[in-house]
Amino acid sequence: MALKITVIGTGYLGATHAAAMAELGYEVLGLDVLPEKIEMLRRGEVPMYEPGLEELLRRHVAGIEGSSGRLRFTTSYEEVGAFGDIHFVCVNTPQKHGEYACDMSYVESAFDALAPHLTRPTLVVGKSTVPVGSAARLAERLAATAPAGPDAELAWNPEFLREGFAVQDTLHPDRIVAGVMSERAEALLREVYATPIAEGSPFVVTDYPTAELVKTAANSFLATKISFINAMAEVCEAADGDVAKLAEAIGHDERIGKKFLRAGIGFGGGCLPKDLRAFMARAGELGADQALTFLREIDSINMRRRGHMVEMARDAVGGGFLGKRVAVLGATFKPDSDDVRDSPALNVAGQIHLQGGQVTVYDPKGMANARRLFPTLGYADSSLDAVRGADVVLHLTEWREFRELDPAKLAEVAGERRILDGRNALDAALWRKAGWVYRAMGRPSA
Ligand SMILES: NC(=O)c1ccc[n+]([C@@H]2O[C@H](COP(=O)([O-])OP(=O)(O)OC[C@H]3O[C@@H](n4cnc5c(N)ncnc54)[C@H](O)[C@@H]3O)[C@@H](O)[C@H]2O)c1
Repeated sequence: MALKITVIGTGYLGATHAAAMAELGYEVLGLDVLPEKIEMLRRGEVPMYEPGLEELLRRHVAGIEGSSGRLRFTTSYEEVGAFGDIHFVCVNTPQKHGEYACDMSYVESAFDALAPHLTRPTLVVGKSTVPVGSAARLAERLAATAPAGPDAELAWNPEFLREGFAVQDTLHPDRIVAGVMSERAEALLREVYATPIAEGSPFVVTDYPTAELVKTAANSFLATKISFINAMAEVCEAADGDVAKLAEAIGHDERIGKKFLRAGIGFGGGCLPKDLRAFMARAGELGADQALTFLREIDSINMRRRGHMVEMARDAVGGGFLGKRVAVLGATFKPDSDDVRDSPALNVAGQIHLQGGQVTVYDPKGMANARRLFPTLGYADSSLDAVRGADVVLHLTEWREFRELDPAKLAEVAGERRILDGRNALDAALWRKAGWVYRAMGRPSA
């Protein structure tokens, strides 16, 4: 009989994972504590924007015409316990308020709610990003509180999907990491992921702590690469160099590589910043804080970028924002997502607003989330409307739509033709040709 799978927590990670598991042929039951989210999913509607996810979901959600019917949703842990052979835990692990450490309360309450319903041999698989040491502790707690006892086993299987590519990354992962303590657990995970493994996805078997560390190590490496090029941008600005050329030139070295070397206003989102900080906090608890003090610098370089963008904008409008109109193109932390969690773009917009600027934001998909988080900012329905009358335009999220803008059209409505490219992604020559003063971070001004 095919495995029955449950997915606990149906956010960016869980909703995608649930739909992907149904696509792989399993019967799937998704659970969330938010009834409104579950209602939407039952109707085949995705509670966020993720390219391709709605189509995938609608292909499988029970009750939708023409669907496989393999995917259902519930708010009942009892139903989940009775249904599943394998339970994937995908709940959020945010930063604790006022601390660097990870808030594990959502994971803990998910485990506590699930355990009493595990009456037969089962595998619980953690996918959330957690501090190293969590899996060992949760495995003990599970065995102690589940009626099935030690037959309620735990595996840790961190997730590497990228928002904007979540469907592709979940169906065709570039690697699968399985932190397991038994052959049975490994065999079950190999069975779940049989299709991607057959397609060539590497399957890396580790112990619990290594699996947990792989995720935070990968995020730390990526963050370091971004902050490295941003640090080079700072030096380029001081020395009149061009960071884009520098990145191109060092990227030809295969050991360095071209990816993640675009200088700009830095990283944000619901993962990288909080994962770096939780990693530092956990290393401190383990007495290994010295090993990660460099991450503090990576974080500072990154946060400094936002302040620097605000300064560039202030300079551009003559030294003060009072009475100045600022158009902000982009609200989400990256393109092809509606996620505005710790978004550098909104952070910059918010700072300028607080300094007296009249900010108007436009984003292709992030408007509703941005409005909820920053209700006092101005919002426009299009780039053109955002730019109308603006004294300066800030390009802060690298949506394709912004790269394809016609600078000549925008020039007709702008108050002043000044654009600051916070992502080094626009065609400088094209904008200059249309009469704009184009400036980007870490590059010469003309
Ligand atoms: N978003 C990403 O790109 C991504 C990538 C890799 C790893 N992760 C990790 O995955 C985890 C989830 O991230 P996300 O972005 O999907 O978060 P999210 O906030 O979008 O989703 C979490 C979901 O869990 C639900 N939830 C909270 N407590 C619950 C409980 N006790 N029982 C059932 N459901 C509960 C929430 O209502 C929410 O719908 C985090 O640890 C994150 O670091 C995320």
